[in-house]
Amino acid sequence: MTVVGCTNVAVTTNAVAISRPANCCKTDVMSHDDHSHDHHSHGHEHDQGLKGMLRYLRFAPQMWKSDVNTAVVGRIGPQSGETVMDIGAGIGAGTMVAAASGCTVMAIEPTNYMRTILGLRSRMARGSGRVQIVDGTAEATTVASGSVDAAWAVNTMHHWMSIDDGIAELARVLAPGGRVLLVDEEFDNPSHPDFESFGSKRDDEHSHHFHTVDPDQVSAACSSAGQRVVFAGHDDIAGRPSIVIEAERA
Ligand SMILES: C[S@@+](CC[C@H](N)C(=O)[O-])C[C@H]1O[C@@H](n2cnc3c(N)ncnc32)[C@H](O)[C@@H]1O
Repeated sequence: MTVVGCTNVAVTTNAVAISRPANCCKTDVMSHDDHSHDHHSHGHEHDQGLKGMLRYLRFAPQMWKSDVNTAVVGRIGPQSGETVMDIGAGIGAGTMVAAASGCTVMAIEPTNYMRTILGLRSRMARGSGRVQIVDGTAEATTVASGSVDAAWAVNTMHHWMSIDDGIAELARVLAPGGRVLLVDEEFDNPSHPDFESFGSKRDDEHSHHFHTVDPDQVSAACSSAGQRVVFAGHDDIAGRPSIVIEAERA
């Protein structure tokens, strides 16, 4: 069992960890039910602990760098001086691309080992902007209200515990006019390039733990939270069929 504290994941010139209470995530194998202390985080328990880490290990190359993340960040268009937010940042495939544009990236990530790797990664990438690694979830980012110019999520929506709460939280943190791009690849679609290697085998364990994202539900949640929906449905991102929601804070 790995024991990893949540505090000061990475404190360097270009990577600043947000301190959590000292008793936060005592271990990274704790389940939701084990938690009696007051905190907001930890995402889906399927991602946590050694089992979660081993499950992700085979996807490490795609999670380090991916065409989908590069395309999403390109479409959201972070500008130097902006504050942007990567929801469920993982080990930084989108965060590091955005940071290279000179903006501040709030990398929201509930899983301890992901934050640790991202902390090391951002520390190595000197001069690539400012990355703040935050122990948070889509539903509770801990980021200041109205402080975010643009936000995106790649392959995390199906992990969210509540789409409505995640969208409401987005509406809270976005500045007026703030841009949103939420993308979940459709690995179960036979036209997805990874369908054979991943999607067709995904129905066993994965689908027992995660729900399929309904773009109409996300769109409705965006509208009731005061966001103008630009697009909600199925689209091709970097040659991959995906569920896409693009919106703008009114
Ligand atoms: C498949 S990975 C994608 C990581 C990264 N966005 C990428 O594209 O490489 C899913 C990520 O969602 C995170 N996650 C789990 N529950 C979450 C939640 N409720 N809110 C935000 N992120 C969550 C996991 O810890 C994990 O890092």
